[in-house]
Amino acid sequence: MGIATAVNTHLRALPTWPVYLAGLIPLAWVIWLVMSGGIGVDPIKGIEHRLGKIALWFLLGGLVITPLRRLIGVNLIRYRRAVGLLAFFYVTLHLVTWLVLDMELLWRQAFNDLYKRPYLLFGIIGFVLLLILALTSNTASIRKLGRNWRRVHWLVYPAVSLGVVHYLWQMKVISQEGWIWAGALVVLLGLRLMPWLRSRLFSRQRPI
Ligand code: HEM
Repeated sequence: MGIATAVNTHLRALPTWPVYLAGLIPLAWVIWLVMSGGIGVDPIKGIEHRLGKIALWFLLGGLVITPLRRLIGVNLIRYRRAVGLLAFFYVTLHLVTWLVLDMELLWRQAFNDLYKRPYLLFGIIGFVLLLILALTSNTASIRKLGRNWRRVHWLVYPAVSLGVVHYLWQMKVISQEGWIWAGALVVLLGLRLMPWLRSRLFSRQRPI
């Protein structure tokens, strides 16, 4: 039995709820930082930035799942919905932090901020796309949408890309870490798009 098969056998016994539970650990960490005073000199910014970064981890983590199965045979597809919903959860907390703590629910101030920092709009469009994905991630929607469900869920690629552009743009100068995130996104998009392009160009076979 190969390593991938052994891993898959063990994974089959693991339900999805521990993934949701483990996904709350980063939130507990942020709460701990706030309570212990370790969040930094500007706590709101500290919370905002950490939640944005955690969201990015889950978003790119979700994109790793399909190539992982194709390239090394480890099948985490069962956990993809949980990872996606956790990403949406953190993006929502990130947005709520901005709206409630940063903008203090002052709508005029919020609109001015969007005008001043256009990269926030990229984040908002990314959030709206993720909202569509979250709302259609249940079994009823999968059944109702049929073949169109896959098409709708391709929105994950523009959603993650907008999140990464939003992240890079908010930096004054793109840091080394920023380039690493951008590179990871390009590789993951390439891994997903290449089989699709190949199947379009060279055969009628549909990619998995
Ligand atoms: C796909 C959705 C989104 C992702 C993945 C995302 C991710 C991020 C990341 C990674 C950062 C920088 C964190 C760091 O430097 O450590 C950030 C900053 C920020 N994001 Fe988002 N974000 C998203 C959507 C939004 C939305 C909807 C809003 C609200 C309008 C928003 C508001 C902000 C703000 C205010 C900052 C801080 C910018 C600054 O300090 O100048 N983001 N975001």
